[in-house]
Amino acid sequence: MSRDRQSDPYLRYDPSIEQALPDETEVTQAILESIARTNVASFKAHNHGIRQQHAKGQGYLKGELTVHDGLPDHLRQGLFATPGSYPIIVRLSTAFGDIRSDRIRVPRGMAIKVLGITGAKALPEDSSANQDFLLVNHKSYFSDARAYLTAQRSFELQPSTPDIALRAIGLISRGVVRLFAKPRGHALLMVARALGDDGNNILGERYYSQAALRFGDYVARLCANPVSPALRSLAGQPCHDGDHAVLDAVTAFFRANAAEYQICAQLGTDLARTPVEDASIDWPEDVAPAQALGSIRLPAQIADSPARRAYADDVLSFDPWRCLAAHRPLGSIMRVRRDAYRLSRTFRDEKNGQRLREPADISEFPD
Ligand code: HEM
Repeated sequence: MSRDRQSDPYLRYDPSIEQALPDETEVTQAILESIARTNVASFKAHNHGIRQQHAKGQGYLKGELTVHDGLPDHLRQGLFATPGSYPIIVRLSTAFGDIRSDRIRVPRGMAIKVLGITGAKALPEDSSANQDFLLVNHKSYFSDARAYLTAQRSFELQPSTPDIALRAIGLISRGVVRLFAKPRGHALLMVARALGDDGNNILGERYYSQAALRFGDYVARLCANPVSPALRSLAGQPCHDGDHAVLDAVTAFFRANAAEYQICAQLGTDLARTPVEDASIDWPEDVAPAQALGSIRLPAQIADSPARRAYADDVLSFDPWRCLAAHRPLGSIMRVRRDAYRLSRTFRDEKNGQRLREPADISEFPD
């Protein structure tokens, strides 16, 4: 890159910016064991292998990611190094590893699979030409793997917790969120924050990677912002008044409308203000403003069909570690995801008699 180190205001990627927790191996093992128990409990409840997180599919879409022409050098990194367009598959979802009524307000997810990319992959076993980005409508997350373990153990209780109890926790949590604008600290406070989601229309939300990833020479958090007027008019609109309110809103929208999001990067500047190992800290936008990289365009389409649902829920997996080496996930919260996603999808593949298949072409995504 043409910028020299002196004038460069951005944090350079270097392996030394990651610092493993002293007990990270044990903590990771305990998380995996808890995920395995949750998978089994959900399977018993649904008689089907479902995702351990974001189990409820809320819309299945195809579209295009266009990398802007004329990006400045510091943004021309990894997938965004050269202008161009790629087909994408998007799975919208709601959080937690159970399939419940949308009256329970939980975080919204947007998983994006970019097809046909080139370049060295982060993991040697990843032979696909695909890059996955996983985003959620909350800016930040549990601080580290240890905090996630506390939360993960509470997720184990979810399949046996009645809807009414989860809704009551949500109500209290929204009060907590209002009292403490940004509840950080104890992992269970963060769970409360997640359960205190506003329950707005999934399409009008902003989505965040919540934790850091390598951005070529730099380090970034990614986000996707709704930009087309029809999408923007949905921002902040409540969507929790029916068991299937979220998917109903998505299918109704895409019957008549196209959607456009802008995909952006916040570039880290220094480990104090834009940390890599503590994912609970929002990267301040005055220090690390969101810089546009490209657009995600989703044409009007049938956003749900039995064939799409079966394919996206059961054949596909989205995994932050299915990525270019240039977009390697960073920080302990990201490192534990490496084995967690593999474990969850292997479980559901086995239970559903599926074989994980990465699409080589967008035509594999059914109508
Ligand atoms: C950095 C914050 C995180 C974000 C933004 C995030 C986002 C997501 C999203 C959007 C999905 C749904 C993917 C799909 O549609 O297939 C998902 C699934 C999942 N997440 Fe996360 N997640 C985060 C952290 C974690 C952590 C720390 C763990 C565990 C250590 C985890 C475990 C899982 C698992 C097991 C699945 C299901 C995978 C499958 O069965 O294919 N996530 N996550």
